[in-house]
Amino acid sequence: MERAPLITLFYSLIILFILELSEEADILTVGGSISDGDTLVSSFQSFELGFFSPGKSENRYLGIWFKNSPGAVVWVANRKNPITDGKGVLTVSDSGNLVLLNQAKNVIWSSNVSGPAENPVAQLLDSGNLVLKDNKSLTQSYLWQSFDYPSDTLLAGMKIGWNLKTGQERYLTSWKSTDDPSPGIFTYRLDINGLPQLAIDRGSMKMFRTGPWNGIGFGAVPAVSNLVFKPTVVRNDNELCYSYEAVSNAITMRLWLNQSGSLQRLILNEGSSEWGILYSAPFDQCDTYGLCGANSICSIRRTDTCECLTGFIPKSQEERRTNKSLSLNCARESPLDCQNGQGFQRLVGVKLPDLLKVRLNKSMSLKKCEAECLKNCSCAAYANLNITGGGSCLMWFGDLIDIREVSEVYRGEEVYIRLPASSLGSTHDSSTKNRSKVILLVSIISSTIILGLVSCIIWRKSKKRDGLLHLTRVESGTEEAEVPLFDFSSIENATNNFSYANVIGEGGFGPVYKGNLPTGQEIAVKRLSKDSGQGVEQFSNEVGLIAKLQHRNLVGLLGCCIQGDERMLIYEFMSNKSLDHFIFDHRQKAQLPWQKRFDIVLGITRGLLYLHQDSKLQIIHRDLKASNILLDSNLIPKISDFGLARIFGGNDEETKTNRVVGTYGYMAPEYAIDGTFSVKSDVFGFGVLLLEIVSGKKNRGYSHPDHRHNLLGHAWLLWNEDRALELIDTSLEESCVRSEVVRCIQVGLLCVQEFPEDRPAMSSVLLMLTNESAATLPQPKPPGFFIERKSSTNFSGSTTTKEESITGNAVTITLLEAR
Ligand SMILES: *[C@@H]1O[C@H](CO)[C@@H](O)[C@H](O)[C@H]1NC(C)=O
Ligand SMILES: *[C@@H]1O[C@H](CO)[C@@H](O)[C@H](O)[C@H]1NC(C)=O
Ligand SMILES: *[C@@H]1O[C@H](CO)[C@@H](O)[C@H](O)[C@H]1NC(C)=O
Ligand SMILES: *[C@@H]1O[C@H](CO)[C@@H](O)[C@H](O)[C@H]1NC(C)=O
Ligand SMILES: *[C@@H]1O[C@H](CO)[C@@H](O)[C@H](O)[C@H]1NC(C)=O
Ligand SMILES: *[C@@H]1O[C@H](CO)[C@@H](O)[C@H](O)[C@H]1NC(C)=O
Ligand SMILES: *[C@@H]1O[C@H](CO)[C@@H](O)[C@H](O)[C@H]1NC(C)=O
Ligand SMILES: *[C@@H]1O[C@H](CO)[C@@H](O)[C@H](O)[C@H]1NC(C)=O
Ligand SMILES: *[C@@H]1O[C@H](CO)[C@@H](O)[C@H](O)[C@H]1NC(C)=O
Ligand SMILES: *[C@@H]1O[C@H](CO)[C@@H](O)[C@H](O)[C@H]1NC(C)=O
Ligand SMILES: *[C@@H]1O[C@H](CO)[C@@H](O)[C@H](O)[C@H]1NC(C)=O
Ligand SMILES: *[C@@H]1O[C@H](CO)[C@@H](O)[C@H](O)[C@H]1NC(C)=O
Repeated sequence: MERAPLITLFYSLIILFILELSEEADILTVGGSISDGDTLVSSFQSFELGFFSPGKSENRYLGIWFKNSPGAVVWVANRKNPITDGKGVLTVSDSGNLVLLNQAKNVIWSSNVSGPAENPVAQLLDSGNLVLKDNKSLTQSYLWQSFDYPSDTLLAGMKIGWNLKTGQERYLTSWKSTDDPSPGIFTYRLDINGLPQLAIDRGSMKMFRTGPWNGIGFGAVPAVSNLVFKPTVVRNDNELCYSYEAVSNAITMRLWLNQSGSLQRLILNEGSSEWGILYSAPFDQCDTYGLCGANSICSIRRTDTCECLTGFIPKSQEERRTNKSLSLNCARESPLDCQNGQGFQRLVGVKLPDLLKVRLNKSMSLKKCEAECLKNCSCAAYANLNITGGGSCLMWFGDLIDIREVSEVYRGEEVYIRLPASSLGSTHDSSTKNRSKVILLVSIISSTIILGLVSCIIWRKSKKRDGLLHLTRVESGTEEAEVPLFDFSSIENATNNFSYANVIGEGGFGPVYKGNLPTGQEIAVKRLSKDSGQGVEQFSNEVGLIAKLQHRNLVGLLGCCIQGDERMLIYEFMSNKSLDHFIFDHRQKAQLPWQKRFDIVLGITRGLLYLHQDSKLQIIHRDLKASNILLDSNLIPKISDFGLARIFGGNDEETKTNRVVGTYGYMAPEYAIDGTFSVKSDVFGFGVLLLEIVSGKKNRGYSHPDHRHNLLGHAWLLWNEDRALELIDTSLEESCVRSEVVRCIQVGLLCVQEFPEDRPAMSSVLLMLTNESAATLPQPKPPGFFIERKSSTNFSGSTTTKEESITGNAVTITLLEAR
């Protein structure tokens, strides 16, 4: 009995000792050691070094991890050689090496530096770098550092790339599995042919690449990332390396190549051990390297993911069908005749072709670059990059591989693709941008509103407003609108300084943040891109008008915030995200049985009817789609982003626009082709949405093994064969009311009819959906845009608009009229 206190004291001492060791020690000297159970902790408690067993494995490994997030192992010493016999120990040997011994005292791993060090010490730095240095030496250089031997994680300040003197390369290698840190099949490396690019390889196969380094960042990566970290490429006689730094010390981040070859940029949410994904790559189908084959462009927003570049045709349709491959492998329609006139097609907002056979001249203007490319008959494309401020001319020879359209939140680039004279139309002047033949421009605008700035709208310098204005009166015509004006600092505070952790969406107009007001109210803050072209007054007027639109099925606009050239809209926050998260997600689908879906359909109908008819302004939404239907906590649908077209300089009364706003798959033919729109264009979008809700499938990207129709075409086929019920989402089979489903499909088909005048108005739609006794609905005529395009010529599913409508981030596809 009397020994108990002694034992307690003994354990307390041990615990104290361990605590001391683990809290203070970041240094290991000769003769010192840490054994399994002990750890080294860096001076500011950022990183910890010690022994661990990954996943379900019982093997022991020496590794470094984030002190706040022990699961995030950033480096493993003995990844190829685990300790299997119990407890290992790490020491600094007399020869000045870090040595890892297993229980049987065999060397499992060693830093293996040659040359004597007089008084070597190992230290775990706050950057996560384990270094071995000579205590005597005054120089800062290290005898050895773990940063030179990356595992699967790139930390801030760490480099990947090439030592140009020795030819040695540093790169990330994935773990084999969560249980096994030994080198897996995926690598992430700096590719340095022509210009640096980052690439994920699977073995020796390229899986994904970024665009080339353009002096500021890599092409085709999210531009928004610049707010969080600063990428650097160092090129000198000794090395060519990539590294990054966080913009603030407060940000903890890592770049991780996970076991399945996905690269994730992660940020540690403050005060927690949860990591948020800033982005991951590959992100979508088009990120797959060379998916579409040679001389093609990949776009996830068009009905055909892959299309040949202008002047090229697919090599073999047969091969494509039998192999079920998307790859087109396009070849020139007619050989380039280098003697006669030729020109170039400008593609904007794309990832540049891979740098397989390229030539770079660092000081050449765009004009000279074009002339230079024309001189050589095998030059297939050129681009002008602004590396270190100067114009650099990059020319491609041979096939162009891996071009993709990128969305406007990514950093897209422009490239000029060589066209033969025959594809140029009647004018042979290559510098003429204005080609006389029909020019089809595909403007990719994923989200709600246009990013671009129309040149005719003159930017009005906004008047500086100081102080806190909480309510402002603005004149709008004869009416007065009151817009609650939020003060910038309160929005800043509510969104944690527009912190990344608060971003809940990202669109063409800029990010959407979740915020908490001091009153406890949750808000969604839409931070508009700075290109709205509106001054303070015009903006508040428009917002005032939109704020007056109040309906149960519209998202409530609470006010706005103006500061300098910042424009923000403050909405009520919707806890259940948007409709697309439910109907297109196989795990969430079940949460919306038929009755709920039908209620949602009716809600959307009422909301749209209000916008079209019942409100004082006739608002045409112009971008109705599943992701714009938000759901509140009771799953009541709320249409969002209505009226934004007004803010971006459009006018709802006008029937013709020279800019096409909208999303592929939802755009009515007359709008996409002629740019004319009316309430009936919204009805088309509603019809698509209705069929999507019933079928649980997206119109865009829909594919069927038996035919090349999209969802609309598929629905139309089934309808004509009296098999309409086969369209229904399998998750609805039990809950559905057949008569309602058939009615919805019929109404959906009526709404997507090709000609606007055939489509019903929303008031009729509501009646058709609600009044069972109005049983005799008209028979639908064929829908618009239901057949997939066969090749780059002769199709109807594209967008025409005027050349001046090209926005900086839109992709422009120039195609010939069908011959
Ligand atoms: C240490 O380096 C030598 C040659 O420099 C090499 O032969 C040996 O395999 C290395 N040992 C380890 C454990 O890496
Ligand atoms: C480094 O060397 C100095 C003497 O040169 C010694 O006083 C000091 O304790 C050493 N530091 C470590 C960490 O070994
Ligand atoms: C790797 O990351 C991708 C994309 O974030 C994810 O889908 C996948 O499940 C991850 N794999 C593992 C093994 O964590
Ligand atoms: C299918 O693709 C493979 C390569 O992926 C190719 O070798 C083969 O020839 C293709 N098959 C046909 C029928 O074209
Ligand atoms: C690059 O362009 C400049 C100006 O056109 C020319 O003088 C120079 O020779 C070119 N350099 C190479 C390597 O082609
Ligand atoms: C055109 O460029 C290719 C690739 O750089 C080169 O091999 C060829 O000699 C050039 N031809 C002429 C006529 O300059
Ligand atoms: C090129 O970059 C420099 C410095 O970043 C910038 O000042 C200049 O405006 C850029 N030029 C073009 C054409 O983008
Ligand atoms: C530009 O194209 C339009 C038709 O799209 C044509 O009317 C006009 O004459 C063209 N201008 C020039 C300079 O070619
Ligand atoms: C910001 O929010 C914190 C609480 O989240 C509050 O204490 C502080 O007063 C707020 N600051 C301002 C300027 O509103
Ligand atoms: C927001 O950031 C600024 C500097 O960027 C800082 O001065 C301010 O304190 C931050 N506010 C909050 C609430 O974090
Ligand atoms: C979302 O909807 C579900 C019904 O499917 C509901 O139970 C839940 O409370 C809602 N979520 C939130 C956060 O309100
Ligand atoms: C329902 O439709 C029938 C037939 O079109 C019509 O007579 C009746 O008035 C409608 N009922 C309502 C409530 O609108």
